[in-house]
Amino acid sequence: CGIVGYVGWRGAQEVLVNGLRRLEYRGYDSAGVAVVDGTGGLEVHRAAGPLDNLVAVLPEEDVSGTTGMGHTRWATHGPPTDRNAHPHRDVTGKVAVVHNGIIENFAALRAELEAEGVELASDTDSEVAAHLVARAFGADPDAGLTAAVRAVVARLEGAFTLVFTHADRPDEIVAARRSSPLVVGVGQGEMFVASDVAAFIDHTRDAVELGQDQVVTLTADGAVVTDFHGETARTRPFHVDWDIAAAEKGGHDFFMLKEIEEQPASLADTLRGHLVDGRVVLDEQRLSDQELRDIDKVFVVACGTAYHAGLLAKYAIEHWCRIPVEVEVASEFRYRDPVLDRSTLVVAISQSGETADTLEAVRHAREQKARVLAICNTNGAQIPRESDAVLYTHAGPEVGVAATKTFTAQVIACYLVGLALAQTFGTKYADEVAREYAELESSADAVARVLEAVVEPTRALARDLAPSKAVLFLGRHVGFPVALEGALKLKELAYMHAEGFAAGELKHGPIALIEQDLPVVVVMPSPKGRAILHQKLLSNIREIQARGARTIVVAEEGDETVRPFAEHLIEVPAVSTLLQPLVASIPLQVFAAEVARARGYDVDKPRNLAKSVTVE
Ligand code: G6P
Repeated sequence: CGIVGYVGWRGAQEVLVNGLRRLEYRGYDSAGVAVVDGTGGLEVHRAAGPLDNLVAVLPEEDVSGTTGMGHTRWATHGPPTDRNAHPHRDVTGKVAVVHNGIIENFAALRAELEAEGVELASDTDSEVAAHLVARAFGADPDAGLTAAVRAVVARLEGAFTLVFTHADRPDEIVAARRSSPLVVGVGQGEMFVASDVAAFIDHTRDAVELGQDQVVTLTADGAVVTDFHGETARTRPFHVDWDIAAAEKGGHDFFMLKEIEEQPASLADTLRGHLVDGRVVLDEQRLSDQELRDIDKVFVVACGTAYHAGLLAKYAIEHWCRIPVEVEVASEFRYRDPVLDRSTLVVAISQSGETADTLEAVRHAREQKARVLAICNTNGAQIPRESDAVLYTHAGPEVGVAATKTFTAQVIACYLVGLALAQTFGTKYADEVAREYAELESSADAVARVLEAVVEPTRALARDLAPSKAVLFLGRHVGFPVALEGALKLKELAYMHAEGFAAGELKHGPIALIEQDLPVVVVMPSPKGRAILHQKLLSNIREIQARGARTIVVAEEGDETVRPFAEHLIEVPAVSTLLQPLVASIPLQVFAAEVARARGYDVDKPRNLAKSVTVE
């Protein structure tokens, strides 16, 4: 979601709408603004759909207020409708809040408010914050709005950026931050707060980055920053030297590069809140435990990159649940009359939730009485709506047509589904599930380390290899889908002939393609975790090297045995087998993007491709 807040001398409504336009890339399923009018009133306008729908319902004359906030939403809790659009208000209509993130303990807070007779007006987790702040402020108005906000945010669990206004405090806004982005913009007699500098860069380039668990009070003259207990906090001022186009892309030339870097956050966000009292919970669950226990067969259906995530689901689900899993491209699935009944679970993976091939596969499965579980990045999209259970990937909007952060988020979501099934079937005890979940959580750090270490060397390699005619990718076991995905990224972005193979199949055909100087990317398994496979892949590398190929090897840090056979070695951290695809995919994404850039192509909008394909 995108957030912007303003206190100053300009008409707030216009500043907010312009700011939201700059943030629209962060979410575009609904938008809203709240302006404090200076006479004790708070004007709120909201609309589902893109920002223009909000603009259509705004009063033409800028309301008189010079304090306010706005929000552009990417739905997490509750479908994208007018009533779920932000800002949300308390019952008196005096307090308004906008929120980015997830309040994990919202159910308990909601119950507490309902027990006091508060009627909630939306399905969101965010609205509780408005009621709680109104209550805290009402209990002791002299303590101020900031004190009320501090008291409330200290009770919240999860990740959030929250901004509050109060009709009785027309000269200030108060914001709080935990794990979601928030920056302050420092102007002349005016102050801004936003999820991203892009929102205020037309007005000021002086900014202050807020730290974890900080609260900021903005007035026209300045900002006061404290921690959640009211102690003065350290902040980092900085000057923005990007232009506006780069600012929206976080300083990168292309959204895709920014999205590649967002992967630690999207992994953490996708996992967050899904282990409750030692049990893995999905976002929506319309199947009974008994119906789930009756499942004896799983099909995974998806297209493109999501299909590659699905291939990895098979390794996890079969390993943890001891149940057969088949993975199939959605466009083939229904036409071959697959054997489905009420004991079949179809897992449909789709970033957009509207890919026609996947949707039709879901419909066919349901007609045959199979149960359908959707993994989707878009709240309220058609596929989750037609499914029996849903797990959302919280990767946020992805602008680049080639999937990156949504791919890794889909993989981790598939693993969560595997754990959820294992606990239902009883093939894993609660403590094992908790251990595996903790392991999954470590993926965010591992991916962050890969990003730090490999991006620049991989880009240099990509520029070097950009003139190549073709590139092959090899992997075994979980490295095989990684090879397929690496090749797909290169095809999509660099328009280069690229193929991924199971390394063991090499000798059965593809080895005929190997010629002098052909780049071959090899995804190595761990020498410790998968010693036998590692041995076998070493032999495969020797075979291709002997035939003149240029070997680019993605291997675990400290894997010395492979070094002599790697013309170029990309080292990634040692992680568990199931997490290896996550760390190994990152350099392949960077590689494809940089080859495309070196060849002069638009990385975000590759030719002939669409982000979501709604025809079969
Ligand atoms: C399109 C996109 C691919 C994507 C596929 C599936 O073909 O170009 O990048 O992987 O659709 O999309 P979905 O939204 O269902 O994950």
